[in-house]
Amino acid sequence: MGSGNLDNFEKNLALIEKRGLELISHAEDLQHLETLRVELFGKKGELTSLMKQLGQMSHEERPVAGQKANAIREALTKSYDARAVRLKQASITKQLETERVDVSLPAREVPQSFEHPVFRAQAEIISILRACGFVVEMGPEIESEWNNFDSLNFPPNHPSRTMQDTFYVSREEKLVLRTHTSPVQIRSMLRSKPPVRMICPGRVYRADYDHTHSPMFHQVEGLLVDEDVHMGDLKGILQYLVSEFFGSELKVRLRPSFFPFTEPSAEVDMQCCFCKGAGCRVCKSTGWIEIGGCGMVDPEVFKSVNYDIDKIRGFAFGMGIERMAMLKYSIEDLRSFYESDYRYFLQFPRWLV
Ligand code: DAH
Repeated sequence: MGSGNLDNFEKNLALIEKRGLELISHAEDLQHLETLRVELFGKKGELTSLMKQLGQMSHEERPVAGQKANAIREALTKSYDARAVRLKQASITKQLETERVDVSLPAREVPQSFEHPVFRAQAEIISILRACGFVVEMGPEIESEWNNFDSLNFPPNHPSRTMQDTFYVSREEKLVLRTHTSPVQIRSMLRSKPPVRMICPGRVYRADYDHTHSPMFHQVEGLLVDEDVHMGDLKGILQYLVSEFFGSELKVRLRPSFFPFTEPSAEVDMQCCFCKGAGCRVCKSTGWIEIGGCGMVDPEVFKSVNYDIDKIRGFAFGMGIERMAMLKYSIEDLRSFYESDYRYFLQFPRWLV
């Protein structure tokens, strides 16, 4: 190959350089710039195909031509880099100008979660009673018939043992879903000697369902056993609980009643929190609302846990937590607790604070 080839090669190189630098300096955006890079000095670009001619050159010509070609590749690359930096900056500036952030826009609302009102009420009851020295104890929801009924002095033929009220887990093994939290009294007394001062919050189950009854609901049980305990102590605790829970001076009264595990037994009524005792629709014009049961622990119960009935006395009480929550937060239908529609609860800002 003669020197004419080198001349020709150099001419072509110069053309590529001139055209390339011109095109690169006018590239409109990064995408256009990239297209030019591929066309001019990419793997299959103009410069690369021109360099294929190197192979046909003489030993003397080849290094000269190669150096020149590399110098031009470098020049093009440099100019490409410089243009890329400018185009990037220009695109950022343009974005800043066109896409303004409106810092005055209000934030998108995020649904806020909060404690379920039943748990809120339960936690409040627990904290009030713990401050009085009661210890929280827990028991299983699947309970033996003995703990749930026999030990609590329910006669074998008591109506609430029937299939209608009690969910039997196993007839043969005598296991039930506990129908109240009272069996936890038995567990506590079997575990420790007097004095006992315990409360037990938890789920209980009964075969019942309407707007005031649910097959699962929550109760809190209280038990105090010591040497010198009387009904005045019981009433004092209940009065304190109601005053603290409702945050007002609502009176408590005990109305004689019957439970197999207490003697004497009483229903716990409190002055209606809606009309403060004056009479309204909720309390059916009586001024009073029933919130639970209570009484002095029946000696038969002490006998079943081997406590000395001559030495000790005790009081017990039990109340429905849903009922307390309904009264405190003015919820009319018990079933709304279990529908888990948080929009319903958002109506009640009182416990959101
Ligand atoms: N266990 C009773 C019930 O579920 C409530 C109750 C009444 C509990 C009197 C007591 C009590 O501890 O003394 O209806």
